[in-house]
Amino acid sequence: MFPVEIEIMTLEHLADVVRIEQASFSSPWSQDSFLNEITSNLHAAYFVARPAGQAAVVGYAGMWLVLNEAHITTLAVDPVCRRQQIGSLLLDRLMREAFLQGARFIFLEVRDSNTCAQGMYEKFSFTVRGRRKRYYRDEDALVMSRAIG
Ligand SMILES: CC(C)(COP(=O)(O)OP(=O)(O)OC[C@H]1O[C@@H](n2cnc3c(N)ncnc32)[C@H](O)[C@@H]1OP(=O)(O)O)[C@@H](O)C(=O)NCCC(=O)NCCS
Repeated sequence: MFPVEIEIMTLEHLADVVRIEQASFSSPWSQDSFLNEITSNLHAAYFVARPAGQAAVVGYAGMWLVLNEAHITTLAVDPVCRRQQIGSLLLDRLMREAFLQGARFIFLEVRDSNTCAQGMYEKFSFTVRGRRKRYYRDEDALVMSRAIG
């Protein structure tokens, strides 16, 4: 793995984030959605991963923090940079930040068929707590969670 730094998502990262988003999800968020999250949502925390000393973003992740709960809203890595522990670094950062901000429980929805992401969450001791029927228009979501701290 090449050295990667995790930092708070800012406006200058959005073009790269949207490019990765479009390559990663069948119903991608728009640039305005990310813009709104990082400029107007006081409950949101978003991060990007960048190779040390380079401008290009190779991954990003975000969550909402409400009272003692953190809800992961998104996490993706540039397809050409996957399987190099960048997703794991981002997930680790989300969990640390959530703990620092007072969350003691973290959860997310993941597509039923997305065994790659499920494998990553399982490595971090998330377990499946339930199923949201047709959470995505074409598929169920599994709800995965764990305590933090
Ligand atoms: C899921 C995703 C973020 C993982 O990012 P990544 O940087 O490739 O993940 P990591 O290298 O940190 O892998 C961590 C673990 O996840 C699992 N994993 C990741 N990719 C996998 C794959 N293609 N096949 C099987 N397991 C996989 C493995 O358990 C892996 O651990 P290992 O490398 O020690 O075997 C990335 O595949 C991605 O962006 N997917 C598209 C978007 C997405 O599905 N996001 C999640 C929404 S809930």
